[in-house]
Amino acid sequence: MALFLCFLFSLIFSATACNRCVHHAKVAYTQQSALSNGACGYGSLALGFNGGYLAAAVSSIYKGGAGCGACFQIRCKDPTLCTKRGTKVIVTDLNQNNQTDFVLSSSALMAMANKGKGQDVSELGVVHVEYKRVPCQYRNQNLALRVEEMSQKPYYLAVKFLYQGGQTEIVGVDVAQVGSPNWSSMRRNYGAVWGTNQVPTGPLQFRMMVTSGYDGKTIWAQHVLPDDWKNGLIYDSGVQITDIAQEGCSLCDVSSWK
Ligand SMILES: *[C@@H]1O[C@H](CO)[C@@H](O)[C@H](O)[C@H]1NC(C)=O
Ligand SMILES: *[C@@H]1O[C@H](CO)[C@@H](O)[C@H](O)[C@H]1NC(C)=O
Repeated sequence: MALFLCFLFSLIFSATACNRCVHHAKVAYTQQSALSNGACGYGSLALGFNGGYLAAAVSSIYKGGAGCGACFQIRCKDPTLCTKRGTKVIVTDLNQNNQTDFVLSSSALMAMANKGKGQDVSELGVVHVEYKRVPCQYRNQNLALRVEEMSQKPYYLAVKFLYQGGQTEIVGVDVAQVGSPNWSSMRRNYGAVWGTNQVPTGPLQFRMMVTSGYDGKTIWAQHVLPDDWKNGLIYDSGVQITDIAQEGCSLCDVSSWK
């Protein structure tokens, strides 16, 4: 019986196994600077992300900050106005207005449009779209950690995750001295920022629990911060995340939008 249930379960799972669920939604747009000062806490760094194609996402996508840095491909439904490829955006902010699912930077909105139709698309105000999550790609760029200004050595350490590749969410972070098994767990402070007041001494290693496949896995960055880590500096983690988390849905798209 258990075996049968197990078989049935895997059958159901494989039927809904999807890493490209297609969703229907509405988007609006705003000036880029509004999004770079967004809830994720990326600040002006966000202007350099993804060519400035940024988005604020509603709370179901923002997920209390776990959705920060996630990438989405969005295209409008009117083929006379928009390309099939649409635009790719990265989430940098929470959209608190529930009239639309995303608010895009104006450049990202323009990038959805067919040649010469940018004005028409922006005049719509609210644009009907379909979207799907896609992996974030950073060429020659590892996952990086920025030590935040609120850190106070040796009492408090806060780090912000930058350039997170793949299609996952960081759901847990631990920090320890390099070579030590004594891990301190960090908590999401806000957006992409994690902190702890159990700050180990010496050079620091990190491990990140990420969603991957149907459940999760641990990514280990063996040597990230030097002994003399400093607020405001960005440190290369030496690793990158390329995993893809699956979701269940009925409208699964296996093609790539081109
Ligand atoms: C949208 O937000 C407003 C005010 O915050 C609320 O009154 C309304 O019920 C919300 N609508 C939906 C569909 O959630
Ligand atoms: C483990 O690390 C924490 C935080 O640095 C420290 O307070 C604690 O004393 C350490 N425990 C051991 C057994 O070393």
